[in-house]
Amino acid sequence: MPLLPTLTRDLDTLIDEARLRARVAELGAKITRDYQGKPLVLVSVLKGSFVFLADLARTIDLPLAIDFLGLSSYGDDTESSGVVRITSDLSKPVEGKHVVVVEDIIDTGLTMQFLLANLATRGPASVRICSLLHKPARTQVNVPLDYVGFTIEDRFVVGYGLDHAERYRNVPFIAVVRG
Ligand code: IMP
Ligand code: MG
Repeated sequence: MPLLPTLTRDLDTLIDEARLRARVAELGAKITRDYQGKPLVLVSVLKGSFVFLADLARTIDLPLAIDFLGLSSYGDDTESSGVVRITSDLSKPVEGKHVVVVEDIIDTGLTMQFLLANLATRGPASVRICSLLHKPARTQVNVPLDYVGFTIEDRFVVGYGLDHAERYRNVPFIAVVRG
């Protein structure tokens, strides 16, 4: 019997839990090595990155602070509106801190371009991006991707935090909705 049989009835698995777990551990190990014991602030972009953040944070062997930033670039649609706004800001200044932005997916890149420009005005020591997924076929603006979990084709994916109209965030793997 699969996990969550009702919710996952219409889904085709793209990246299963074992692959996610292994890749997240690799990313965490790389971040741990790269920062050489320095304290880090993980900035989680809500809401899509909450599952990735929870798993990633537990693979990073550094003194970590965690903060959240709510951004909205989508309606309940599957297309980027291009209009990004902050729906909820960080709880603390990041001035002088090393920041890793944790994102679920880089699609057009418009959301991350906005966020990088915004963070730059706050005077962090450094900013890097860690995205679980990247869809290069959809790129409109290039942003420097320091840590990427998986490069995927141009398909709309759900699960592991990612939603379609707020559904499927609690699916434990990355999937495509059968349609
Ligand atoms: P971008 O601004 O086009 O790069 O879009 C970034 C945001 O769009 C992501 O943080 C997601 O919230 C959402 N998004 C883009 N592609 C997908 C997808 O395939 N599934 C679910 N959400 C997506
Ligand atoms: Mg997002």
